[in-house]
Amino acid sequence: MGSDFDFLTLLAIANGVRASHTKVALAVLLSASCASVRVDTPLYERLGGPRAIHVIVDDFVGRVTTAPRIRRFFEGSNLPLVREQVTQFICQAAGGPRTYLGVDMKTAHVGLGISDADFDALADDLNASLDKFNIAARDKAELLAILGRMRVDIVEKKP
Ligand code: HEM
Repeated sequence: MGSDFDFLTLLAIANGVRASHTKVALAVLLSASCASVRVDTPLYERLGGPRAIHVIVDDFVGRVTTAPRIRRFFEGSNLPLVREQVTQFICQAAGGPRTYLGVDMKTAHVGLGISDADFDALADDLNASLDKFNIAARDKAELLAILGRMRVDIVEKKP
């Protein structure tokens, strides 16, 4: 009898240990999968999707075309077209479903004589638009880093 009790007690303890291990393992798996949902959400979704990106670019184009430092570049440009193209470009660059069908960045900006300071001024304007629409610091930094890689193709005027 005594040995039966010991056996059952041991079994119960073993099961309890296994159950608590399972619970811990489940909790770890769940938290890992929750974390990966956050990490794996594409940037364009974190920016609010294509419609939100369109609204952000609208504000951004408004800023660059009135900014004393760089507005001269856009005089004579087809602004509605530039707005559309920049929206598609940013959607695609942020991993979104839109496909940018315009010319490559080097071709789009060749001959404009854009300097590093002009590029920085435009990046500041984009930063301001992203702030206006409360884009999280992490998502903002990610987008600006992606676009920052275009600098080599866009800047042609060295001081
Ligand atoms: C990462 C930064 C930039 C991106 C992603 C970008 C993107 C674009 C795109 C997608 C277009 C449309 C091209 C097409 O017609 O297919 C465009 C045009 C244009 N961009 Fe940029 N751009 C950037 C930086 C700049 C800077 C720094 C300036 C000047 C300060 C600038 C001035 C212009 C102008 C003036 C046009 C219109 C050219 C035309 O009328 O033909 N861009 N840009």
